[in-house]
Amino acid sequence: MPECYDLIVIGAGPGGYVAAIRAAQLGKKVVCIDKRAALGGTCLNIGCIPSKALLDSSELYSVARNRFARHGIQAKEVNLDLPTMLKRKDGVVKSLVDGLAYLFQKNGIQIVTGLAKVEAPGRVAVKKPDGTTIHLEGDAILLATGSEPAAVPTLPYDGTNIVSSTEALAFDKVPAQLIVVGAGYIGLELGSVWARLGAKVTVLELLPRILPGMDTEIATLVQKSLTRQGMKFHLETKVLDATVQGGQVVVRTQHQGQNSEFQGDKVLVAVGRKPCTAGLGLTELGVTIKERTGRVQVDEAYQTTVPGIYAIGDLIDGPMLAHKAHEEGIAFAEKLAGKAGHVNYGAIPGVVYIWPEVATVGLTEEQVKETGKPYRVGRFPFQASGRAIAMDETEGIAKVIADQATDRLLGVHIFGPRASDLIAEAVMAIEFSASAEDIARICHAHPTLSEGLADAARAAYSGKAINVYLDR
Ligand code: NAI
Repeated sequence: MPECYDLIVIGAGPGGYVAAIRAAQLGKKVVCIDKRAALGGTCLNIGCIPSKALLDSSELYSVARNRFARHGIQAKEVNLDLPTMLKRKDGVVKSLVDGLAYLFQKNGIQIVTGLAKVEAPGRVAVKKPDGTTIHLEGDAILLATGSEPAAVPTLPYDGTNIVSSTEALAFDKVPAQLIVVGAGYIGLELGSVWARLGAKVTVLELLPRILPGMDTEIATLVQKSLTRQGMKFHLETKVLDATVQGGQVVVRTQHQGQNSEFQGDKVLVAVGRKPCTAGLGLTELGVTIKERTGRVQVDEAYQTTVPGIYAIGDLIDGPMLAHKAHEEGIAFAEKLAGKAGHVNYGAIPGVVYIWPEVATVGLTEEQVKETGKPYRVGRFPFQASGRAIAMDETEGIAKVIADQATDRLLGVHIFGPRASDLIAEAVMAIEFSASAEDIARICHAHPTLSEGLADAARAAYSGKAINVYLDR
C-alpha cells in the first residue's frame, strides 16, 4: 500500500519548502519530494544564496583594493584567493541546506529524493536515484518545481564556455573576457561578481535598455554606474551565432543592421527562465499550461484546472522571485487548511544585488504614466545623506511616486547603498496603503540611510525636502 499524506509537495525550493512547513504547522501530514538530495531548490543551491555569497565576497575584495585608502586603511597587498572564496560560498549553502533539513525533521515532514510524476489526482510516482519507483498518495498535490534557465537557440549551452548561471557561480578561474547575454537580474549580478574579481565584462542586450520592467530613470543610473565600474554595454544587440575554438568563444551579433564579433573565454547566457513542467505528467492529466508563457494556470486558491492539484512560485504567473514563491507557499497552505491566506501582488519587492543595490516596489513611473492619472515624484540623492557621506557610499537616489490627488504611494524605487534593506519600509507602506506624507512623518533614526527615503517622500508630497534644496 502506498503511503498516504494530506499534502504531497513536489519541489523543495522557497515555494515548496515554505508550503510544506506551514502546512505541517497547521497539522497536515506532509511529504516533500525533490530531485536533489539537498533541500532548498535553485534559490538555495545554485541561485540567490550562492550568488549573494559571491557578491558579498567580491564586493569586499573590490572595496579592499579600491577604497580602503580613502578610509585611511593601508593594505599593502590585497590578493584574490578564488578557491577559498568559492569554498566559503559552498559552506554558506551547506549551512542553510542543513538548517532546512533540521526544520523539516522538527516539523515532521517526510523527505523523498527522486523525480516525481503525477499519475493521477492524489497519486504521485517517484523514481529514486537507485532506479526504483515508489508511489505516494495524498489528498492534495502541490507543484512547486520552479524554473530553469531559458536558452538562446543560436547560443546553445555547452557547460564549459557557453554557460548558465549555475556554472557561472563556480568558474575555477576568473575569466579574462566574460560576455554576458542579457542585462537582467542574473546578467548584472554575476557580471558584477566577475568584473570585481578582474574579468573584462561585456553585456549584450536585445532591448534598447537594461533591466526591462524596472523604472527607466533608475535603470539609466544603474547602467552609468556599472559602466563606471568597468562593464561595457551593447544594447539593441542580437546574437546571431557563436563558435567555440581553443577555449575561446566568438559571438557574432547584429546591431541596427551592422554585424560585429565579440570574443571571450566564457559566455554567460542569462535571458530569463522558463517554468519546469516537463516530465510531471501534467498535460496528460488535463492541467492547463498557458501556451505563450508555459506557466500553469491556477485559480485564487492556487488550484490548477485539475481539482486536488495545485501550483505556486515560478510555475505560475508573476515575477520569478523566491520571496513571491515563499508568500504563495504560506498562502496556499493556509487556504488548504481553511484559513484566509493572501498575497498582495502589488507589494512584491524586486532587488538586484549589484552595488549600489537596486530595490523597487509598486509601479514604475512609466506604468503610472500609462494609467493617465496625475502623480508626483520626490527624489533624494544619497549625496545629501549624512550617513551615506560617512560611509563613503553616496551614489544613487531614492525615488517616491505618489498619486497627486490622494498622495497614496504608487511606487518606490531605490538605487543606493543597502537598498535591499531600505525597501522593506516602502513595501510595508504600500501594503498598508500609506501616503507619501505618512512615510515623511514617521521618525527615522539619524544618521541612517532611511532618512533618504523619508526626504524623498517629503519631496513627493510637499515639493520640499529638508536635506536637499529643491527649487520648485
Ligand atoms: P531577466 O528576465 O531578469 O533578464 C533577461 C534579459 O535578457 C532581459 O533584459 C532581456 O531583454 C534579455 N534578453 C532576452 N533574450 C535575449 C537575447 N536573445 N539576446 C540578448 N538579450 C536577451 O532574466 P535573468 O537575468 O535570466 O533572470 C531570470 C529570473 O531569475 C528573473 O525572472 C529574475 O526574477 C530571477 N532572478 C532574481 C534575482 C533577484 O531577485 N535578485 C537574481 C537572479 C535571478
